[in-house]
Amino acid sequence: MSTSLKNSLIHLRNFKKQDVIDLFERASFFEKQKNSFVKTDQTAALIFFEASTRTRMSFETASVRLGLHPMILSGKASSSLEKGESFEDTVLNIAALNPALLIIRTDDSLDLNRLEQRLALPILNAGWGTQGHPSQALLDAFTIWRKKGTLEKERVLIIGDVGHSRVAASHFELSKIMNYEVALCGPQNFMPTGTAHAAFSNLEEALGWATVAMALRVQNERHSKLATLTSYADKFGLNTKNKKFISQGTLIMHPGPINHGIEMDLAVMRDQRSVILEQVINGVYIRQALLERALNGGTR
Ligand code: CP
Repeated sequence: MSTSLKNSLIHLRNFKKQDVIDLFERASFFEKQKNSFVKTDQTAALIFFEASTRTRMSFETASVRLGLHPMILSGKASSSLEKGESFEDTVLNIAALNPALLIIRTDDSLDLNRLEQRLALPILNAGWGTQGHPSQALLDAFTIWRKKGTLEKERVLIIGDVGHSRVAASHFELSKIMNYEVALCGPQNFMPTGTAHAAFSNLEEALGWATVAMALRVQNERHSKLATLTSYADKFGLNTKNKKFISQGTLIMHPGPINHGIEMDLAVMRDQRSVILEQVINGVYIRQALLERALNGGTR
């Protein structure tokens, strides 16, 4: 079932379809539970070396709802990272405090696979460089599943900075397991090299194909030239002019955070087909299911 006997979550590639369905069913259960808190004497360590709003607070909420007390390291400020301590030493020292599990967001410099083999406790990937963001792909897929009743044969269009996107990397894995199609749309230099997925260069044509239109954040930190961003917004930004090419039943999604006026205008975010805030709501339930699975192997 899992990446290891500890039920860590590093990649999705080892999941089977039934594992994903089990997670969705547990997430649906947690949705019905809403805010019923339980109490344990365990802690969950949230180690966020990179910035986050949704993932960090969603895992924090999910931890509290499962009775895990969250211990949070968020960025460098006030931590010994400021004194030059390495990411790996930081993780090993936090692990020595004996949390029930580690939830880690990091850049590519930290090897989560190596840490997972070295440590006895489960590790949950909360966004790892360009490697993957499995809980995000799962919550996206759960949102589609809830709205459409299935993922089979859904046509998910991922628009934008796909080459730098860990969210896209996890959808490439999950789409094979859950049998949904993924196509890409964006400028050539934003596309991953050697992709097996169909790529559209024309956004209007691509939107006509899609049953889910998922825009990604243009990673400004990697594309700092204003000219690049302006030309991107003209050709690939979702806006009031091109949203008419999105069919009525198509879901509009974005993992967040959004650069308004670049990959998505406010009017598109507020469109009735947008499920962007539902993604955030569903993220807590999926993360509760992932935490439960990490703690006790889930329900199977
Ligand atoms: N979707 C996502 O990972 O958002 P944050 O960076 O705010 O966690």
